Amino acid sequence: MKKIEVVRSPKVMTALAKECLQEGLTIGFVPTMGAFHKGHLSLVKRSTAENDVSVVSIFVNPAQFGPSEDFKRYPRDLEGDLEKLRELKVDTVFSPEPEDLYPGGYLTYVNVEGLSEGLCGTFRPGHFRGVATIVTKLFNIVLPTRAYFGQKDYQQARILQTMASDLNMDIDVIVCPIVREEDGLAMSSRNAYMDEEERRAATIIYRALTKISNMLAHGELPVSRSSDGLRNILLSEPLVDDIQYASAYDPETLEELKQDDCTGEVLLAVALKIGRTRLIDNMIVKI
Ligand code: PAF
Repeated sequence: MKKIEVVRSPKVMTALAKECLQEGLTIGFVPTMGAFHKGHLSLVKRSTAENDVSVVSIFVNPAQFGPSEDFKRYPRDLEGDLEKLRELKVDTVFSPEPEDLYPGGYLTYVNVEGLSEGLCGTFRPGHFRGVATIVTKLFNIVLPTRAYFGQKDYQQARILQTMASDLNMDIDVIVCPIVREEDGLAMSSRNAYMDEEERRAATIIYRALTKISNMLAHGELPVSRSSDGLRNILLSEPLVDDIQYASAYDPETLEELKQDDCTGEVLLAVALKIGRTRLIDNMIVKI
């Protein structure tokens, strides 16, 4: 089993990264907030397969949580996470303290306009500014060649790809497929918040996305009816509360598709609450 170096200091992390780059090694980077599930581990495996060294960051970023959100109760389990990484070929875990990244007097934020405003951005104001800021900081510290993100956070991934391109960051932002439980629920650290009944109810999201994507793919439903189709299925589950969005979107611009003459790929995306747990999921459909 491999010994993983756990680094707390941003300066030490950058010094290590520079040594690797000077030796001509590629650095794969998986930014995370910890509480690993198989989705995280799939990103790590992809990084270790494609790079000479792999760095995983574990940092619950206060800047991406709103005042009434779950920053305090977000699951944290550094020891358990390290245990899971030991089986994989990870070289370094970067796990700084909030004061290391946001010292007193901190003033600088990154905002990817437009893409950050719809979908989750409408319900979580400031969230993507927090994400773009921390990922920029982590990129500057870890100096990765490639960085890996999950498709489950589709909007986040699109924002970060755009940010890397707009800010001339010489980093490949790679988006990896959603990893699902056997019953289709997309893996998420927040799934642990749900009780048994809520967990069972949550499978409606995958069922709704699958049904509507099959109908769209076979021309049995016009794209403009996707939202109605998704909502009808989601609302058949009594524990579904507060559907924040459920519709078809342009996978590049994230604009809602209201016309029917769409060809190519369409993004179906959903955000809703079951009890106190906010869940998101999506699927790409080829029309
Ligand atoms: O997807 C996440 O876990 C977080 O948003 C990220 C990218 C690690 C930034 O804190």
